[in-house]
Amino acid sequence: MAPEGYGGCVTRGDNRRGLSRAYSEETWRVYEFLDISLDPRGLDSLYEFAAPHLGNDSRILDAGCRNAKHLIELIRRYEGTGVGVDPVAIHVSRAHDAVAAADLSARVQVREGLMEELPEDVGRFDFVEQRTRHDGPHARERPEKPD
Ligand SMILES: C[S@@+](CC[C@H](N)C(=O)[O-])C[C@H]1O[C@@H](n2cnc3c(N)ncnc32)[C@H](O)[C@@H]1O
Repeated sequence: MAPEGYGGCVTRGDNRRGLSRAYSEETWRVYEFLDISLDPRGLDSLYEFAAPHLGNDSRILDAGCRNAKHLIELIRRYEGTGVGVDPVAIHVSRAHDAVAAADLSARVQVREGLMEELPEDVGRFDFVEQRTRHDGPHARERPEKPD
């Protein structure tokens, strides 16, 4: 008789076939893929991605700039000017401080607000930076491989 919850009779043969399937070559290939996807490229890869799109007269929009760290780094590396926008007052305050500390106040403007509500007169941009993060526990921890 199958144990309760198995929904029917499970024979030893079924169980062995199930285990063989669960621990098949395909399973290990999936774990190898997971290891790759859980080992993301570093932050610098996005600066490098931006390189061919930016010149020393480019205008960059950082939509959701938080403390403007990435906008500052892009302007440092590639010159140009930038606008950072974020709706959270403490982020905006820190962004202002960081821009001033980097001596970039003449080239980087930080605005408090929503990107979708930027006024027309903010102008046009050559490059839009919008980083976001998916860092739940599943992304921070590597799954245990079964023995
Ligand atoms: C995941 S954080 C990324 C911050 C920054 N780009 C970074 O990589 O460190 C997302 C940011 O977007 C901002 N944000 C959320 N909705 C926004 C909107 N509609 N317009 C502008 N910024 C927004 C949040 O306040 C937050 O600072």
